[in-house]
Amino acid sequence: MIHPKTFQKKLTEKIQIEQEHKVFFTRSLFSKENETLLNAFEDNRPVKALVLLDRNLLTFMPKLENTIQSWFENHNDSFVSIPKILELPGGEAIKNDWRYIEKIWGHIEKEHLCRHSYIIAIGGGSLMDAVGFAASTAHRGIRIIRVPTTCLAQADSGVGVKNGVNRLGKKNWIGNFSIPKCVINDSHFLEHIPYALFREGLAEAIKVSLIKKECFFSWIEKNKEAIKLQKKEVVEELIYQSASLHFDHICNSGDPFEIGSSRPLDFGHWSAHKLEQISSFAINHGEAVSIGIAVDICYAHNIGMLSEIDKNRILNLLIHFEFTLYNEHLDDYDTNGKRVVIEGIEEFREHLGGELSIPLLTQIGSMKNVHKIDKFKMAQAFREVKEIHLKQ
Ligand SMILES: NC(=O)c1ccc[n+]([C@@H]2O[C@H](COP(=O)([O-])OP(=O)(O)OC[C@H]3O[C@@H](n4cnc5c(N)ncnc54)[C@H](O)[C@@H]3O)[C@@H](O)[C@H]2O)c1
Ligand SMILES: [Zn+2]
Repeated sequence: MIHPKTFQKKLTEKIQIEQEHKVFFTRSLFSKENETLLNAFEDNRPVKALVLLDRNLLTFMPKLENTIQSWFENHNDSFVSIPKILELPGGEAIKNDWRYIEKIWGHIEKEHLCRHSYIIAIGGGSLMDAVGFAASTAHRGIRIIRVPTTCLAQADSGVGVKNGVNRLGKKNWIGNFSIPKCVINDSHFLEHIPYALFREGLAEAIKVSLIKKECFFSWIEKNKEAIKLQKKEVVEELIYQSASLHFDHICNSGDPFEIGSSRPLDFGHWSAHKLEQISSFAINHGEAVSIGIAVDICYAHNIGMLSEIDKNRILNLLIHFEFTLYNEHLDDYDTNGKRVVIEGIEEFREHLGGELSIPLLTQIGSMKNVHKIDKFKMAQAFREVKEIHLKQ
């Protein structure tokens, strides 16, 4: 008899899957003559499709549903049948309630979509995360075309490959990675966006400039007045630059599915995620990110990693855009006298797995991961952002 310990066989092979990631930039995707969406289907036409639309868009664009409907009717030869347009709630609400995922699965089933069909998701980053999750799990993955409609989703999350919903009181606790068939950034959606919502994406654009490209940060500084006024061409350039840097990182960093422990695009995010959670999501993501950036640059300066000049340049730009750099939840303590936001460090590590890796700036345009945080110097950073906030 062969002893179980001596019986060993192994099969190994590298599985290489080539997938293309594509982002189109356009104006007025659903205007009669715009064919960007048709190009996205490549030569698979006629296709079966279902449109899932962020309901809140209709407040700003009441004719949107009719416009989309007319566009499909004008291009009906590219579709098996005119796609249904279904409205869903936008914002964090869709990620907080599992019933919406089941609802989307229900629609997919009812419309008899298969793995060759398309879901066209039009909405903010929250809708994108939830619909992306439902689409990538139904039939083990239905093709999805993302049409992000907020500044944040066009500049950052929408061009990514992550999906997620909130569970167990934690953000994105359930989710997966899947590459959309393509992403279409249409600047028309940003034309009527309120400044507060616009700034959410601006925070991510500043973030990515800080870790990746000094000249993009300088460009933002130079165009800060036009950006604040949301001038169309400048906004288009801001989105393009930010999306390109996020896109480049995903495609070329060698870790698109975040298997390693390093996550530079989450610069300023360890405290941001925790702040969103402590405030029961009363603090929105962009606001939390600007606080997170402010805290981390003050900390990087305190430990001698970042120069005072760079620190002040960044803080001044954030202040110019009227970002808040402090929130009282930074000073919440639990019953054991521990600062609650600090738990975000361990939660950040746990979410990524492996060793703690917090991205910090060494100068504008470059970053380094640190694997330990000096809690005393971090507390100093919290005090500093509070002082700046009180002076503002
Ligand atoms: N998957 C990722 O890689 C990733 C990365 C960063 C952030 N995110 C997630 O993205 C979400 C935030 O996304 P968001 O900032 O796009 O906000 P959002 O999707 O929550 O939308 C905010 C509000 O704006 C509305 N809205 C959408 N488009 C609009 C428009 N053109 N004009 C006016 N209102 C509009 C929405 O309906 C909602 O009420 C968070 O849940 C965050 O966790 C995901
Ligand atoms: Zn973010």
